[in-house]
Amino acid sequence: MGGATSEPIRMPPEVRVPKLAQGVGFVLARDKVIGRLSRRYGSAFTLDLPIFGQTVVVSDRETVKELFTLSGDLIGRAGQLGAVLGPGSTFSLDGAEHRQRRKLLAPPFHGKRMLGYERIIEEEVLRETATWPSGREFAVLPSMMRITLNAILRAVFGARGPALEELRELLPVMVLRSSRLVVLPPVARRDFGPLSPGARVHKLRERYDRIIAGLIADARSDPQLLERSDVLALLLAARYEDGSAISDDHIADELLTLLAAGHETTATTLAWAVERLRRHPDLLTRLADEIDAGGTELTQATIFEVQRTRPVISGTARVTRERITLGQWVIPKGTVVVVSIGAAHISAQNYHDPQRFDPDRFIGNPPDNYAWVPYGGGVRRCIGAAFANMEMMVTLRTLLRDFTFGTTTVPAERLHSRGVAAAPADGGRIVVYRRHPATAVA
Ligand code: HEM
Repeated sequence: MGGATSEPIRMPPEVRVPKLAQGVGFVLARDKVIGRLSRRYGSAFTLDLPIFGQTVVVSDRETVKELFTLSGDLIGRAGQLGAVLGPGSTFSLDGAEHRQRRKLLAPPFHGKRMLGYERIIEEEVLRETATWPSGREFAVLPSMMRITLNAILRAVFGARGPALEELRELLPVMVLRSSRLVVLPPVARRDFGPLSPGARVHKLRERYDRIIAGLIADARSDPQLLERSDVLALLLAARYEDGSAISDDHIADELLTLLAAGHETTATTLAWAVERLRRHPDLLTRLADEIDAGGTELTQATIFEVQRTRPVISGTARVTRERITLGQWVIPKGTVVVVSIGAAHISAQNYHDPQRFDPDRFIGNPPDNYAWVPYGGGVRRCIGAAFANMEMMVTLRTLLRDFTFGTTTVPAERLHSRGVAAAPADGGRIVVYRRHPATAVA
């Protein structure tokens, strides 16, 4: 079991590459580099990265489990995301504050509540696919980005009318520009004149804050507020144990967080699903049969397998608050420990024939919490996992109900890092043929 210790430091093997090369390699090609290093050094190794310093990377199930189940006194939050999302973002909170916020955020994202959002997702898929051309190849990622953006704006922000339109236009630009700042040193976030990246993001943020203030004011004066099911309405009604509410500023930061964390991640996973399915004709036929018969098992297993073989977030980080034991290692206080999601998912210790795309491995055998980690784990596990899963289930179900996908034998698409998530490099090329006349959207 991992825990605090006073034993002498015993770090995993150190990767012998010059520091700058490690830093550049890590930022530009995280998955490739980590995959190569895991093959060479095994399931735990130490990198010496610029800015982060000594960084331990782990991927075997037992060590991942130890890390994710360590008490919050021993490990804490790492990473820069909070700095661009604001002090009220879950990504900025740690310890007791983080625990309390998660308690308030959990009910709106509870599995059962997700059923209520299925209609919104189906409507957005129908709206988006109404204009899809038949028999002509195109990249599906932009469509998936619009579906997941609109889904979050409606189900999470509770946005409608002009505010919905304005956020729809503003947020993709704002999240893209902010996520570019995340990978740069903190100084890049400062305002160095109107054209500097920091100043531009600041301006977009001011506009965002004005729109959210309007949404909050409208919600407070909505006589139906208590019957509303969007996350904003639930957050406005939520109370901490001492009876206090989440401040408006923190709600604005949190909504932005939910969007930044949930929009591109879900869209890129869906684009990968299309990319994988087109290369597996037998699976496509079986899925269409299952969906026509009203089943879900193979569709769910397919989503699990897409997330195993094409995880869109390559790793998640923690910082040690004390000297700890982790597996056979003793790691000093203040060290960044990264769970390599990519390496865990292609580990032969964790999976039989790990390179093979085989959804059947999950039929009657749900994923293991520490070997299948696309949503991270422990007290910081993705809060939107049930939402993302529901959204992907409804999207795939609706697409395969309404369209036949053209299959292909062209090689798999490569991976392209977009800042937040890793997408298929060609955007997930798709060819569709409509199975029935299009359903009208309300
Ligand atoms: C396929 C889609 C998604 C993937 C792959 C994904 C992945 C992740 C990962 C890897 C983490 C870090 C977990 C950790 O450190 O252990 C995370 C955290 C988080 N995700 Fe997701 N996510 C997805 C969708 C969503 C959605 C739809 C939402 C909300 C609408 C969301 C909200 C969050 C939040 C708020 C956190 C921070 C949790 C915390 O620090 O306590 N995510 N997600």
